[in-house]
Amino acid sequence: MSDQKATPLTVLSKTPITPTLFSFTTTRPDGFRFLAGQFVRLGVNPSELKNTQNAPDERIFRAYSVASSPYDEQLEFFSVVVPDGAFTSQLQHLDVGDTLYLNPEPFGFLTLARYQEPAPKDLWLLATGTGLAPFLSMLGDLTTWQNYSDIVLVYSARTQAELAYLDKIHELNQQFSELTDNPAKLHFVPIITREKVENCLNARIPALIDSGELENFVGLNLNPATSHVMLCGNPDMVDDTKESLKNKGLAMNRRGVGNIAVENYW
Ligand SMILES: Cc1cc2nc3c(=O)[nH]c(=O)nc-3n(C[C@H](O)[C@H](O)[C@H](O)COP(=O)(O)OP(=O)(O)OC[C@H]3O[C@@H](n4cnc5c(N)ncnc54)[C@H](O)[C@@H]3O)c2cc1C
Ligand SMILES: NC(=O)c1ccc[n+]([C@@H]2O[C@H](COP(=O)([O-])OP(=O)(O)OC[C@H]3O[C@@H](n4cnc5c(N)ncnc54)[C@H](OP(=O)(O)O)[C@@H]3O)[C@@H](O)[C@H]2O)c1
Repeated sequence: MSDQKATPLTVLSKTPITPTLFSFTTTRPDGFRFLAGQFVRLGVNPSELKNTQNAPDERIFRAYSVASSPYDEQLEFFSVVVPDGAFTSQLQHLDVGDTLYLNPEPFGFLTLARYQEPAPKDLWLLATGTGLAPFLSMLGDLTTWQNYSDIVLVYSARTQAELAYLDKIHELNQQFSELTDNPAKLHFVPIITREKVENCLNARIPALIDSGELENFVGLNLNPATSHVMLCGNPDMVDDTKESLKNKGLAMNRRGVGNIAVENYW
């Protein structure tokens, strides 16, 4: 579908996290379906936002991962603000009641359905920044908790203030651990790279894999026979981490077979 035929959404809530990070929820159009991990094209017309003046009267679209689960009544998104970015320098002015636009065709293959071989034991979800979003959606899907014995969520941010959704991750763990027999065990690994914070690791994801520190921290090994590994966020992280994983014998997932699946945000 073309972006210009997109469906209007109403903003229901906005949660500032830092001056350059926020999340928001919107209405979910009837019949809009997606798989956990997929992204949509989201549009804004800056001139229609309540808090803008003399803003351009045109719809601007960008790819956004859906952070809410396929079963939630509302849609949720987690956004960066790039000060000179055409989209987010406008989107940052968003307020409750504003209109956004959704191209209701879900895209992307960062989904657990892409793995066609029998489910191995452990799922590793490695994110930088807003790359957390598709993994939140997966953690809101019961089958994720049923299909693996261990889920390792690794989430890297520059500062403690930018490590968002900590309460949500805790709630999802509690909620889904009680919903099914023998649920996956969640191992949450927060990484803060530009500050020293207790209980958080303090190096980039590839370095933590190369040194063995990540596996030691979790108490599990990255294993070509048992691990599914998904990477999302900063393209340099994705490239560097792919190399680290390949050095451990893991392979890209192609035609359903192989360990590693990735999504680059820029
Ligand atoms: C498949 C896919 C899914 C995406 N999902 C999300 C999402 O859920 N949340 C989100 O905030 N963005 C997401 N993005 C990025 C998004 O599409 C835009 O790039 C972002 O909103 C910035 O738009 P912009 O026009 O302001 O700046 P752009 O001109 O698009 O980007 C300018 C620069 O900003 C930086 N940048 C862009 N996006 C990010 C980011 N997310 N985090 C840190 N730096 C960034 C890069 O250096 C980029 O070159 C996704 C991108 C892709 C391809
Ligand atoms: N975060 C801010 O303070 C800030 C402030 C103003 C504007 N912004 C805007 O937001 C964008 C950056 O946002 P962000 O902080 O969410 O994203 P980011 O730069 O991708 O940083 C998020 C995490 O990814 C890590 N990372 C970066 N490159 C990596 C690599 N090659 N391998 C492994 N990990 C890597 C970072 O570690 P390192 O710390 O080691 O890089 C950090 O922990 C900027 O382009 C800017 O426009 C951000």
